[in-house]
Formats: sequence, structure tokens, C-alpha cells
Amino acid sequence: MNHLFDLTGKNAVVTGGSRGLGKDIALGLAEAGANVAIISRTESPETVKELESFGVKAVSIAFDISDLALHKELLSIIEEKLGKIDILVNNAGVQKRHPAVEFPQEDWNYVMNVNANAVFSLCQTFGKPMLERGYGKIINVASLLSFQGGLTVPAYAASKGAVMQFTKSLANEWASKGINVNCVAPGYMATDMNEALIQDEVRSRQIMERIPAGRWGTGKDMQGAVVFLASGASDYVHGFTMAIDGGWLGR
Ligand SMILES: NC(=O)c1ccc[n+]([C@@H]2O[C@H](COP(=O)([O-])OP(=O)(O)OC[C@H]3O[C@@H](n4cnc5c(N)ncnc54)[C@H](O)[C@@H]3O)[C@@H](O)[C@H]2O)c1
Repeated sequence: MNHLFDLTGKNAVVTGGSRGLGKDIALGLAEAGANVAIISRTESPETVKELESFGVKAVSIAFDISDLALHKELLSIIEEKLGKIDILVNNAGVQKRHPAVEFPQEDWNYVMNVNANAVFSLCQTFGKPMLERGYGKIINVASLLSFQGGLTVPAYAASKGAVMQFTKSLANEWASKGINVNCVAPGYMATDMNEALIQDEVRSRQIMERIPAGRWGTGKDMQGAVVFLASGASDYVHGFTMAIDGGWLGR
């Protein structure tokens, strides 16, 4: 492996790493040499086995990230199992779809809490020891809806807009202290989260027609960008949101 992208001996945490994009992100980091802790609501021993096949250490931790009060405890548990954390990928996210006029407050709060509040709190919690050591890479998973409003997903758009904005705020404060904080913004990716869209023939066709690459994205498409932002190759990249969208935003 080109040393610029080599993550051998680094310790990484990926939230929502048991399935979907998070699982492929975790596998990409492991393939580049990083030890990986995946956090998801239930433990995932199968994913741990897949990660270990790259010859790295891997652990799975069952934890609901919406429980902000327990984030410090989560950090201690992970440090005990893996050591100091070099790379944090805030990937876990949720979606709720309703017409804006009747969007339930409860769903608004749920989406904002998981996608924005929890991500900011995890940046703070894991960022603190990184600041003490003068080294760290934080990669937040934003979305095309950090840039666009979408249809029937106002809470999701608000939460992902927040993620892109506070990523810049953190980068402004932490860039000179050895910490890189950046985002990746996936486009339309074929995962469980988009099942409703994929099943909707009209929306699915409309989406496909607008993607210059002519296909939905996959978790594998995330790996190169995340490894880049987790590695020394991106040491001078701060507060940036990299779209992985088959060209969607350029249309
Ligand atoms: N799929 C897409 O097209 C797409 C597009 C743009 C952005 N994204 C973002 O990418 C990320 C991953 O999406 P995905 O499509 O793989 O979704 P997914 O629904 O397939 O997986 C989400 C993961 O997050 C975990 N998770 C959700 N809430 C959690 C909580 N409270 N505590 C712990 N874990 C929790 C789930 O267990 C799961 O592992 C999300 O942040 C999503 O918003 C996805």
C-alpha cells in the first residue's frame, strides 16, 4: 500500500458499522490496516469476523448513540478494548419521511437527535483526547441533503445541513491542533435507508435519470474517500465536504 494511505496500527471507530455504508466504510479502513470498533444498536459478530480477515483487531459494541449522556462511558469502553482512537467516522443516521405540513414533532426530534445532536456530542467526546494528543481524523457522514432540501424529508435535510456546518466550525478551531474534521456526502446509495425510494418506480426512475454516472452508489464507493480523509494523504484538508454522488451535484 502507498504509505500516504496506510492506516496500519491506527484505531478507528465507525458508528452504524454493522450494515449499509458503515459496514463497507469499516471494511475499507480495515483493509488499509486500521483496527476498527463498530458501534450499532445490536452487536454484529459476523462483521467483526469479516474485519478480522484483514489481520486487524476488531470489536463490536452495542450502543444507541442517541443516548448522549453515555458518550463518555462509550469512549472509555472503546479505549479499554482498542486503545486511543485516531479515527472517528460518524456514519450512523436515520430517516423519517412525511409531507412537511404534517411532519410529527416526535419524528423531527428523533432525526435531529441521532443525526445532528449525537454526532456533535461524539465529535466533542472523541475529539477531546485527540486534541490532548495533537492527532486525529474525524469524518462525518453528511448527505446531498446537506446542500439540497429534498422532498418529504425536512428533518433529515436540517440535520445533515447542521452536520456539514458544524464540521466547518470544528475544523476552524481544531485544524491548527492536528485534527482534521471533514465530511463525506453520499449521493443516492442502494441501502436499507433508501428501500422506500427504490421501491417507488417513478422516484427511482427520476433519480437514476439525474445521476451522470448512470447508477445508484454502493458502500464500496465510499471506501476510497474515507480512507483518504482518515490518512496522512489528507493532512491539509479541513472542513471540507466531499460528495460521492456519481456527479449528481454537478447537474
Ligand atoms: N443511503 C444513502 O443513499 C445515503 C445518502 C446520503 C447519506 N447517507 C447517510 O449515510 C449514513 C449511513 O446510511 P445507510 O444508508 O448505510 O443507512 P442504514 O439504515 O443502512 O444504516 C444505518 C446504520 O446506523 C445505525 N444506527 C442508526 N441509528 C442508530 C443509533 N441511534 N445508535 C447506533 N446506531 C444507529 C444502524 O444500526 C445502521 O447500522 C447515514 O448517516 C445516512 O444518513 C445515506
